[in-house]
Amino acid sequence: MVSNAVQWQEKPITKKPTRRKPMIIVGIVGLIALIAAAVAVAVVLTRRSSSSSSSSSSSSSSSSSGSNSGSDPSVFAKDPKLVQSFYGIAYTPEGSQMPNCAYNADSSIWQVIKCYAPAVSSTAVAGADCNQTALVLEAIKQTKAQMTVWVGNYVIPTDNGTAYRRQRDELTRVIQTYGTEHIGGITVGNEFMLNYVTANSATDPNGSVGNTGAALLKADIDDTKSVMRDLNHGNIPIGNAEAGAYFNTDTLRNVDYGLSNVHAWFAGTTVQDAAGWTWQYFEETNVVVANGLPNKPEMYIAETGWPTKYTQTSLQTMGAPPSQATEANLQVFLDTFVCQANRNGTKYFFFELFDEKWKDDMYGGVEGWWGLFYAK
Ligand SMILES: *[C@@H]1O[C@H](CO)[C@@H](O)[C@H](O)[C@H]1NC(C)=O
Ligand SMILES: *[C@@H]1O[C@H](CO)[C@@H](O)[C@H](O)[C@H]1NC(C)=O
Ligand SMILES: *[C@@H]1O[C@H](CO)[C@@H](O)[C@H](O)[C@H]1NC(C)=O
Ligand SMILES: *[C@@H]1O[C@H](CO)[C@@H](O)[C@H](O)[C@H]1NC(C)=O
Repeated sequence: MVSNAVQWQEKPITKKPTRRKPMIIVGIVGLIALIAAAVAVAVVLTRRSSSSSSSSSSSSSSSSSGSNSGSDPSVFAKDPKLVQSFYGIAYTPEGSQMPNCAYNADSSIWQVIKCYAPAVSSTAVAGADCNQTALVLEAIKQTKAQMTVWVGNYVIPTDNGTAYRRQRDELTRVIQTYGTEHIGGITVGNEFMLNYVTANSATDPNGSVGNTGAALLKADIDDTKSVMRDLNHGNIPIGNAEAGAYFNTDTLRNVDYGLSNVHAWFAGTTVQDAAGWTWQYFEETNVVVANGLPNKPEMYIAETGWPTKYTQTSLQTMGAPPSQATEANLQVFLDTFVCQANRNGTKYFFFELFDEKWKDDMYGGVEGWWGLFYAK
């Protein structure tokens, strides 16, 4: 998500933080775990105050470390405040990204899945490094959560396929261990095109530079399809994740689904317009294009949300004065987006589950403050 500022680079954003761009180049964005959870309306509406009670109920349940300490991890206290209300929720835990892998079986994924399992329906993981795919599938297996995972391979355009192959081999091992029962699809590439055209001083994802990049990515997509066929999992959907404005049409022709990041905040809309803008942008830029292709890939909003806080005053708003990073404005976005999108069948992952202190430490600005709950 940290790259989304440049997603709208053709739009006049006066207060765009200049330090965002290098983040994209280092490829931090990629390894995002999107948890298609369904968290309570009640919890959301009372947002901050309920976070402590839900996390304490999680940690007071049996085997609170999250590891399998003898008792049955699938038996745990369910928080009565949790009911289905989101299609999906994104989650980017600390330690899930190279080179700072620090995510292990005792880490928060267990508690998160236990906490949200009563209402969780699916999960997507955007990269396969740091063992995160195995950790998520193991946690689902142990907790018997009814979840589907979209696993991911975060492809780096400039590394000669090293990251792609490392993650492909990891995903192969994971599928051999856990099977595909809980896997909804394999996402090859996350903001690959945004990174590729930006690095090559271009802007049009469908221009000649974009199409050159798309051909590179197609080799990886085709390779993944072939590896899955060899594993007798040729039916598994293969997709692509991209910044909303950067889907290449050739890439969409090669995939079964697309995950699109659409952030009204970075487009500088007012919070009152944010829900309608998000939906309309996604519809016009992604859904219409996808539906015009012979394979009609299914499109999802991979990330959308509203920040509640900022650590630099200059980043308090991205554009229009009403679009401040406040809890009240997150509530406005929730009130105007979630139920309407649920009703009209828009598939979205709300960004994100918790405030992430590590992002604030690393990037500042609004990066750490998108949580529905305070940092764990
Ligand atoms: C990865 O996670 C799985 C599931 O928890 C675990 O069994 C395995 O030992 C982990 N591998 C590494 C290298 O940490
Ligand atoms: C790129 O990777 C291939 C193996 O896939 C290798 O043969 C080649 O030497 C590499 N090229 C560079 C420039 O690293
Ligand atoms: C090029 O990409 C954009 C963004 O994904 C899309 O909206 C547009 O329709 C595409 N244009 C063509 C000519 O394919
Ligand atoms: C679907 O939901 C979105 C998000 O709240 C809303 O903006 C949009 O107008 C709705 N579209 C239709 C066709 O109802």
